[in-house]
Amino acid sequence: MAFLLRNIGKLLTMNGDLENPLGEIQNAAVIIDGEKIVWIGAEVHVPYTVDKVFDCLGGVVAPGLIDCHTHLVFAGSRREEFVLRAKGATYLEIMQAGGGILNTMQATRWASKEELIELALPRLSRMLSYGVTTIEAKTGYGLSIADELKMLEAMHALNELQPIQICPTFLGAHAIPPEYRDRSEDYVNHIIDDMIPQIKAQGIAVACDVFVERGAFTADQGFRILSAAKAAGLSCKVHAEQLSHSGGALLAAKVSALSASHLEYATDDDKKALANSEVIAEILPTAQEFLGLHKMVSARSFIDAGIKVAVATDFNPGSAMCDNLHWAARLSVTRCGLSCEEALLGITLHAAKSVGLDDIGVIQAGKKADFCILSSDNPWDLFYDWSVNLVWAVFKNGQEVYRSNSGFLATKPLNL
Ligand code: NIG
Ligand code: FE
Repeated sequence: MAFLLRNIGKLLTMNGDLENPLGEIQNAAVIIDGEKIVWIGAEVHVPYTVDKVFDCLGGVVAPGLIDCHTHLVFAGSRREEFVLRAKGATYLEIMQAGGGILNTMQATRWASKEELIELALPRLSRMLSYGVTTIEAKTGYGLSIADELKMLEAMHALNELQPIQICPTFLGAHAIPPEYRDRSEDYVNHIIDDMIPQIKAQGIAVACDVFVERGAFTADQGFRILSAAKAAGLSCKVHAEQLSHSGGALLAAKVSALSASHLEYATDDDKKALANSEVIAEILPTAQEFLGLHKMVSARSFIDAGIKVAVATDFNPGSAMCDNLHWAARLSVTRCGLSCEEALLGITLHAAKSVGLDDIGVIQAGKKADFCILSSDNPWDLFYDWSVNLVWAVFKNGQEVYRSNSGFLATKPLNL
């Protein structure tokens, strides 16, 4: 059944140009039919009558937000590592002492698929309340075939249980599991010879990621893993240059990855290589902030080099225990040099590219009817007001899937 969105304070299509970067349309209306947007134009030009009208109460309408980098599925807590860091320990020291990712791996291996699903559901429900309608989620806390598949199966089950679309990424190369201690080459071969073929056979992931870092995987190992993943039909992603310069950004360009994430230690040569590719620079300021690291990525320098920038939470129990995409977007402005316009593009249009989808992240006829409505007629309130969650309603595939009970602040009267 078709319906009309009207009384929109400001429509941000994200389909803009230099003059109008967010593709803002004033006095706009939108017609939704089934799962798709079928018409956009001025409210006075609505071409036909539809059965139902949805009153946006003068609020901003924007595409459903996309969190293009999360480690959603995990068990356990790493609160004691936060306390250790507060006393001066570093993320790498904790990792080298056997904590860090392996700590969460142990808890995740112990958890059943059902427990992982139950733990993830409230996280997803919070994300939905921020207007998020699509996320990417990585494995990487199983690190054995059975446990990696368990994480992927949990993601598929979650896709059936709640409205946020989850794009599953295989991150077997997140850490060397204890069974392969000091035998990283053997583990890399296990990923290539055993894990990727199983994942391919089950058609259960869409992308493959590698953590290129001291104490994790080398760029060369990453290249071998991503080449095998590509041959198995998966897209590539890279955790690159987060804690040191390790060659992850050049690797991302070399394998035509969808994205390179973090990038705090990227060099000018890395930027040149990324600018000559289609790789999206995914910035994750929440992780640096959470780890108390002062080196923030200069997202501005990536944009100046001609690279598209996406912004994500990196939600995970070790380096970013925060699933609030608004918070990540605000930090990308206050700490990484993005304008509010660029940050909004980073959690919509550019985030869609980073997950390899072209039917979301934009409000346009023919695209999916995923959008959120704010309880403000000014999108900058999302950045300015750190106290309030301004998301009032969320639609996924043309269905209303969330309505805030916090009341509505905008005052533009409906002019019937
Ligand atoms: O993106 N860098 C590697 N992976 C995560 C951290 C995961 C963890 O500490 O559990 C990240 O920051
Ligand atoms: Fe990450």
